[in-house]
Amino acid sequence: MSEQPANLLARPGDTVAVASDHAGYDLKTLLAGDLKEMGFKVLDLGANGLESVDYPDFGAALGQAVARGRAQAGVAICGTGIGISIAANRIPGVRAALVHDKATAALSREHNDANVLALGARLLPPEEARAFLKIFLATPFGGGRHAGRVAKLG
Ligand code: RB5
Repeated sequence: MSEQPANLLARPGDTVAVASDHAGYDLKTLLAGDLKEMGFKVLDLGANGLESVDYPDFGAALGQAVARGRAQAGVAICGTGIGISIAANRIPGVRAALVHDKATAALSREHNDANVLALGARLLPPEEARAFLKIFLATPFGGGRHAGRVAKLG
């Protein structure tokens, strides 16, 4: 078995929760398939189609799943990633990071110990979103000077 670094958010066999509104539905479906291929269990909290829904409902459900330990990590998707990341971050214990590029995908883990990856489906080519998800899950929290700062987030 290959050695995996400490401080990864989730390992194959762990559960990753996914949630989106209608704008993020297609990307959520794509990323859920990728997560299963990577060996994760997927907890799909909806939306369940392209019918218009409200992102706060899905961000809150995702945040609660992560905060309560039903999932070790979360992926939250709406049109911009903004609304659903705000909703998830209102749940104590959630650190949702809205990621736009490979650097923020890695740094959100390394510096902020983010436990939810937020993506804007209308702003990102799907292949980029797929790459960001892989980076997010493969990057350990750096600890050290970052640990005290993350603790101050509550
Ligand atoms: C839905 O039209 C859109 O407002 C939503 O997906 C998101 O971008 C909100 O932040």
